[in-house]
Amino acid sequence: MSIDYKVADLGLAEAGRHQIRLAEHEMPGLMSLREEFGSSQPLKGARIAGSLHMTVQTAVLIETLTALGAEVRWASCNIYSTQDEAAAAVVVGPEGTVDNPQGVPVFAWKGETLEEYWDCTEQILTWPGEGANMILDDGGDATMLVHKGREWETAGQVPPTTDEDSEEFGVFKALVRRSLEQDPQKWTKVSEEVKGVTEETTTGVLRLYDLAKTGDLLFPAINVNDSVTKSKFDNKYGCRHSVIDGLNRATDVLIAGKVAVVCGYGDVGKGVAQALAGQGARVVVTEVDPICALQAAMEGYQVARLESVVETADIFITTTGNFNIITAEHMQQMKNKAIVANIGHFDNEIDMAGLAKIDGITKTEIKPQVHEWTFDGGTSIIVLSEGRLFNLGNATGHPSFVMSNSFTNQTIAQIELFTKTSDYDKQVYVLPKHLDEKVARLHLEALGVELTELTKEQAEYIGVDVAGPYKSDHYRY
Ligand code: NAI
Repeated sequence: MSIDYKVADLGLAEAGRHQIRLAEHEMPGLMSLREEFGSSQPLKGARIAGSLHMTVQTAVLIETLTALGAEVRWASCNIYSTQDEAAAAVVVGPEGTVDNPQGVPVFAWKGETLEEYWDCTEQILTWPGEGANMILDDGGDATMLVHKGREWETAGQVPPTTDEDSEEFGVFKALVRRSLEQDPQKWTKVSEEVKGVTEETTTGVLRLYDLAKTGDLLFPAINVNDSVTKSKFDNKYGCRHSVIDGLNRATDVLIAGKVAVVCGYGDVGKGVAQALAGQGARVVVTEVDPICALQAAMEGYQVARLESVVETADIFITTTGNFNIITAEHMQQMKNKAIVANIGHFDNEIDMAGLAKIDGITKTEIKPQVHEWTFDGGTSIIVLSEGRLFNLGNATGHPSFVMSNSFTNQTIAQIELFTKTSDYDKQVYVLPKHLDEKVARLHLEALGVELTELTKEQAEYIGVDVAGPYKSDHYRY
């Protein structure tokens, strides 16, 4: 059987396979799900369209989903985040060869154009024969394509592209227009097949709650991000690791002694600030939420407005999931060779379009995903990954062990929605706490953790079951 795919170079598959093998060792949660569910095949019949950074860790996720019976098609959720060797290895598959690939159709390579990106996203939703019946999303782009496609299809037209649209939204509209010319009912058909979506990140989850609030959500959704074992681990400890990796690979600048501004002190900001402080940076946090601002102050960070520190700081990292955090005006005021990078999901935290429009500015590529922008006065700033999430653009994202927690949640959520579809309405759900605790439990042994057991009397005293769950739903960790 031949598979369709589009990756950079299948010749990288062997290198990818070695990395996947090592990653499997660091992903005990996923590997134990293979053991637990390998024979019962709960995902048999599932046709999963996956839109999530095509890294080595994601390869282990994909091969776990197929080991549980699913068929899968995959694209990355960012133009820079693919690890080409991982993509190649997944296409070739553990049993295949470069000349006879037998793995999973992947449409992803590092450095896609926006047109290619949206084309790849359409590819994962366009199955030969029957369509996808599950979506696994990171940031919500695949879900948005189905929803906007159906909305515009019902309205009878894709709204004309205007000057107000970002470049990316213009490209997106063009893709939907083309898809509807090819098949005027395409997105109705796709949306009617889909049983549900499981969403990986804060930004994508926000989009899902918006759709649910207006009654526009077309299928049930599980918010994987807000499993405790996802957002309090991946967002925090994952970014604590990969923020330094990204800065080092991109610039190798000494962080110690520098003033580093972290915009946003949520889960990602907390990890980023801790990592930079650990390197000896003097960390300044900006926040809009008084609770997070107070948390930052109590950790010993200066909390200031960006305007107060923009001229003196050396490194700026945005972590807000919000837009227009660092404006073109801010960047013009920065000191010579300041480093500007975003680790939030989308590229609109830093006003890259505004930067490019500054009179007399020039852009020099230092190396891929590292650019020096020189103002006409002669000073310059260094911008990483064109303002896109730089821990995946300049490095390889989070390490396997932390992603094992996130992806164990993803796999459990896929099983839950696929096998119990009728239990779920067109709303957004989080996984029950006992499953969250199960994910954590699966990762303890590898770290040599000795868990204390409650006695029956102690369990009764605090009002829980000996086997858990141990906390109420409103407990915040
Ligand atoms: P969060 O909601 O916990 O934190 C965001 C924080 O930014 C909040 O405390 C909020 O008050 C603050 N904020 C909002 N607007 C602000 C402004 N104008 N100025 C200063 N602070 C502001 O969200 P979380 O989980 O920390 O995620 C942040 C972003 O990172 C999201 O886009 C998420 O999808 C993404 N993410 C990226 C990862 C990566 O590997 N690059 C991993 C996990 C999440």
